[in-house]
Amino acid sequence: MLDRTDTLTLQREAFRRDVLEGLALSQKTIPARWLYDDRGSELFEDITKLDEYYPTRTERAILERHAGDIAQKLGPKASLIEYGAGAGIKTEIVLDALDDPELYVPIDIAGDFLEASAERLRGRFPALDVHPVVGDFTDDIDLPDSLPDEGRRCGFFPGSTIGNLDPKDAVTFLKRMRGHVGRGGRAVLGADLKKPIEDLRRAYDDSEGVTAAFNQNLLIRINRELGGDFPHDAFHHEARWNDAESAVEMHLVADREVSVSVAGQSFDFHEGETIHTESSRKYDRASLGKLAGSAGWEIESFWTDDKDRFSVTMLKAA
Ligand code: AVJ
Repeated sequence: MLDRTDTLTLQREAFRRDVLEGLALSQKTIPARWLYDDRGSELFEDITKLDEYYPTRTERAILERHAGDIAQKLGPKASLIEYGAGAGIKTEIVLDALDDPELYVPIDIAGDFLEASAERLRGRFPALDVHPVVGDFTDDIDLPDSLPDEGRRCGFFPGSTIGNLDPKDAVTFLKRMRGHVGRGGRAVLGADLKKPIEDLRRAYDDSEGVTAAFNQNLLIRINRELGGDFPHDAFHHEARWNDAESAVEMHLVADREVSVSVAGQSFDFHEGETIHTESSRKYDRASLGKLAGSAGWEIESFWTDDKDRFSVTMLKAA
């Protein structure tokens, strides 16, 4: 077992490698997962409360409306495996509806956070076995031996986090989840939908500047954790639509020519040069079906809100 210090050291090493490699690319790019340090997670929570940011509350409403359908499909004594356990509200909606759920396995890299939310859920659902696993859901993960039979296992991947993965990684992830639930297993997948660019722009470049602060916090994190000297006031937030990728991209744009050093290495920016910090892919039923199909899943149910803004898909192992 790795203790907390080892985990932090490994995380720091991985962060350093991703940043140094990413800043050396011709399109400077840093993987989106590094946006979520303590401050970044806090800012993301703030984003979810903005009027302009529709995904979180829309997904919650879809889950509330269809929790009964999910419970009916899964049947009694189901187990839920959640990838990247969040604050737990969406999980509670599902667990509340399930008939005598047996086991809940939240998987997350943030061990402290994971323990705290596991404790809270144990309090809320005394009959439920809660077995957190510290790990990165984009790596191989050892699941607990106590998992019940195949066919009663359900993966849970809400929040359109799938949209942060490039198509290849998304397929790898979906295959892994497929392996976890086994024959006859299911998954509940939240995915944001394609919509007019103007609505997306508002959601990803909000009027209060919370998303901008969320993006800029990455530079503050690099300066603090990797000994960087980014003058972060020299970069502004931009949300762009990439039509070929069907994705909203977040970039940090250099307002002037600037040279920075990170972990002893130096990187030059010309005016207008960007660091690509996140892609948030947008889907429709067809593109989701295709993605899921290439990973051994089929769509069993596809639920959206009245305005077709967000989707919750029930996948069944093909
Ligand atoms: C948590 C990845 C789903 O892509 O909408 C919010 C993150 N980025 N505003 C998203 C995010 C900018 C969010 N996900």
